[in-house]
Amino acid sequence: MTEPFDAVEVIAAKRDKAELGDAQIDWVVDAYTRGVVADEQMSALAMAILLNGMNRREIARWTAAMIASGERMEFSALSWKTADKHSTGGVGDKITLPLAPLVAACGVAVPQLSGRGLGHTGGTLDKLESIPGWRAALTNREIMTQLEDVGAVICAAGDGLAPADKKLYALRDVTGTVEAIPLIASSIMSKKIAEGTGALVLDVKVGSGAFMKTKDQARELGQIMVDLGNDAGVTTVALLTDMSTPLGPTAGNACEVAESVEVLAGGGPSDVVELTLALAREMLAAAGKDDVDPAHVLASGAAMDVWKRMISAQGGDPDATLPTSKDTHTIEAPESGTLLQLDALAVGVAAWRLGAGRARPGEKVQAAAGVTMHAKPGDTVTAGQPLLTLHTDTPERFDRAMAALEGGYTIGQGAAGGSSVVIERIG
Ligand code: URA
Repeated sequence: MTEPFDAVEVIAAKRDKAELGDAQIDWVVDAYTRGVVADEQMSALAMAILLNGMNRREIARWTAAMIASGERMEFSALSWKTADKHSTGGVGDKITLPLAPLVAACGVAVPQLSGRGLGHTGGTLDKLESIPGWRAALTNREIMTQLEDVGAVICAAGDGLAPADKKLYALRDVTGTVEAIPLIASSIMSKKIAEGTGALVLDVKVGSGAFMKTKDQARELGQIMVDLGNDAGVTTVALLTDMSTPLGPTAGNACEVAESVEVLAGGGPSDVVELTLALAREMLAAAGKDDVDPAHVLASGAAMDVWKRMISAQGGDPDATLPTSKDTHTIEAPESGTLLQLDALAVGVAAWRLGAGRARPGEKVQAAAGVTMHAKPGDTVTAGQPLLTLHTDTPERFDRAMAALEGGYTIGQGAAGGSSVVIERIG
């Protein structure tokens, strides 16, 4: 087949800050999916997009091309309404785990097609795979059956769904090209629109541990995604939420599952509970079901029942003991005072270096690797008390993890500038 464009010509156009035409975008996304455009060429194009941006037309077209690279799912045959949530990625962001069963327990089905860790941010599938027996890969038929029977599925997007994103997501992870608004917006929205959810709530993270470091960037990303979703007929809203410090007291895989189970049991850290409930309310409202209070449902234990059924339906044992790491190292508070800041990026990079994320594509992550935070900003600490515990099966990783944490926390006098997790709403 004769190709209508040359990859080098498309790369050079974006390098020189030109707008890409519709036909160029359709071709380059399709040709990359077919393997005609090589990984090194797409890396160069992704870097040019990161540096020079894309306008709204280019982003919408790129998203449509990624959707067209694969199949689309359809949930209209279900007896439930559907709503999904997607986070732009954070540290200690385990919210999907309690949220999906909670929203299902409130009467709206959640088809959560999730991803793996990207850069220093954790991945829902990597976390759930620390549950013995749990399986991320489901067929479309299994997804439909589980949604109808249980009301919630958290699984990998099948190979047929937005395959262009699957390739590009893995490539961006290892080429320093994650933090581009057009690439994040099209990556998330292509999967969510192709997935066929009726309503979508986006959790757009802002702060050091997020890909968007400023509120202005996060607002821009949120607004682009809300517009892409609504234009595609998916009721879409976004919450801007704080990611300057990790969510909850753990960042890793198995440790975050354990923390989520605490939330489902009616306990858990207040920031995780607050965000889970805020997102649940938005999902229920977007699906047109606002006569149920998710806080009551969480307290009733009904969400825990759905969690157990959801994990069992995918081969997991919800009552199994979760793996623990072979080695730990504890960092003590160097002085007494108030923990003024605990930087999300520092903790995320440390967890990643301990083995909770991957440095190379396809690498296996360690289920038990991660960081336990014994204090959060605003807490009083005493010199010598444990501040952070690092977990890994490969202790040679401790030095680089500790290097990531240098300057990542501050103890002093006074109060930490505390704020609510939810910053603002778009939509
Ligand atoms: N989540 C995604 O699915 N894609 C991105 O690019 C970033 C976060």
